[in-house]
Amino acid sequence: MDDGKIDFSAISDEGVTWTLLGTLYLRAYESRLPRPILGDRHAAEALSRIDYDFAKLRRRLHPNGNQFLVALRAKVLDDWCTDFLTRTPDATVLQLGCGLDSRMLRLDAEGAHPWYDLDIPAVIDLRRRLYPEKGNHQMIGASVTDTGWLDKVPGDRPVLIVAEGLFPYLTADQMRRLLPRLTAHFDTGELLFDGLAPSMVRMGRLFQWPVRDGHEVERMDPRLTLAGQVPITDLGHLIPVRTYRLLYQFMHAVPPLRRLLVDYRFTF
Ligand SMILES: C[S@@+](CC[C@H](N)C(=O)[O-])C[C@H]1O[C@@H](n2cnc3c(N)ncnc32)[C@H](O)[C@@H]1O
Repeated sequence: MDDGKIDFSAISDEGVTWTLLGTLYLRAYESRLPRPILGDRHAAEALSRIDYDFAKLRRRLHPNGNQFLVALRAKVLDDWCTDFLTRTPDATVLQLGCGLDSRMLRLDAEGAHPWYDLDIPAVIDLRRRLYPEKGNHQMIGASVTDTGWLDKVPGDRPVLIVAEGLFPYLTADQMRRLLPRLTAHFDTGELLFDGLAPSMVRMGRLFQWPVRDGHEVERMDPRLTLAGQVPITDLGHLIPVRTYRLLYQFMHAVPPLRRLLVDYRFTF
């Protein structure tokens, strides 16, 4: 029977792509808590339209603290986005590895900015069924490592490039090629992304690119200037559940734990 739900069976349970469902699930879960940090109600709406074995997903994800990790990571990035877009009303937004994230609805519901959401073609096919393209909001189905897709994005405006939960899955060589390609295409802008410490990268089967410090990214592309690096534990005080708040605050006090997941902001 066709119940109008979006069939997720085209997405394998094994590869990187599956992770987009995990982050969506955790954001939806967090949005239902009393006093949420991100409160992404669009994630909850999107999730309700997807046909998937969510009991299995829940067992695999253990939303016992990870929902705050995902919410804090997105909150830092959203705040930086808002800051840039407020100062730069003529900016274009380019989101890489967008998955089923609803940032354009959270931050640009009126479509004030030309906004490009990129992910691999199978994901963009699903995304188009959840969030129809309209007005200024467009989607690009391509691997970020391919050349050519950037021609679809006009380079004549300042740009806000956001890559959440993507770069750790690329290799250092891919990053070394990608960063200068991005910054050469636009005159000026900001690049926001999250990076994992080497110990985190060693722990995850799919992770490939660790970031020890934002300055090493400047060395990969000299056009980039580090403008901020915020460990997500920095915002641990926002967590509404005492046990997890204390856990994140403990992690923040221990330098190797503090640097496990850091949001980075670069200007160029
Ligand atoms: C952890 S999910 C994050 C999704 C989304 N940014 C979010 O926060 O919910 C990783 C995303 O990166 C995408 N991805 C992985 N490798 C990619 C590539 N080479 N090109 C484009 N997207 C890629 C996956 O398809 C997936 O949607």
